[in-house]
Amino acid sequence: MDSLKNLLQQKNCKDVVVLTGAGISAESGIKTFRDSNGLWEDHAIEDIASPEGFYKDPEMVHRFYNLRRAQLQDVYPNPAHTALSDLEKIVDNFTLITQNVDDLHERGGSQNVLHMHGELKKIFCLKTGKVDYFEGDVMSEEFSFVRPDIVWFGEAIKYSTEIQKAFENCDLYLCIGTSNNVYPAAGFVQAAKMKNALCIELNLEATALSHQYDLNFYGPATEIVTQFVDLFR
Ligand code: APR
Repeated sequence: MDSLKNLLQQKNCKDVVVLTGAGISAESGIKTFRDSNGLWEDHAIEDIASPEGFYKDPEMVHRFYNLRRAQLQDVYPNPAHTALSDLEKIVDNFTLITQNVDDLHERGGSQNVLHMHGELKKIFCLKTGKVDYFEGDVMSEEFSFVRPDIVWFGEAIKYSTEIQKAFENCDLYLCIGTSNNVYPAAGFVQAAKMKNALCIELNLEATALSHQYDLNFYGPATEIVTQFVDLFR
């Protein structure tokens, strides 16, 4: 990491964009999607993460998200979450984009989190389209007219304008804890490269897109993300 410290000092990175995925919350006890024993292992994705699946069986989908929402009460931010909230305070411009729907970045101190795939703690009314902050379980009598404010497969991501703007002057792009399986998030590295940003992947293991990054660091997020942020202190 020492040579990286020199490189970062040379580049004098001022405009940092970070993308996180399920891997940053794994050590807090939240299952990832595609690791062994992951969330998708027990369910057909199209059944619980698509509009068609919801309309076919709203009760099953609500029960899946009720369980994930309830779990938030038993998990806590880990040092990787808090390190990113420190980095936000250190650098001039910082944008945190997350694919995660948990609230651990906010509880870890991050201020402005772009939940591009939605949030477990929000639901929206199918009649009015109104989004409300929500904790607890959606009850069976509500199953047919509210849905989790989660972006499902085939739906447009949230904050696309803010995300596009974030890359306009990006000089450092960090991709943390994601398998880079899902677009458009997996394609963000291309947007960063077009701005000649230094692109760094921090993940437990290599991914299909690791070769697109200038540097790769492998290990548990609580170790490699904290070590990386320490370079800025
Ligand atoms: N530290 C760092 N990385 C980790 C850790 C850890 N402790 N544990 C797992 N990982 C890595 C895995 O190696 C994997 O590359 O996190 C990644 C998790 O990948 P996925 O399970 O595919 O999750 P993610 O990339 O966030 O999925 C993206 O897909 O299903 C959709 O909408 C869902 O937002 C999700 C999107």
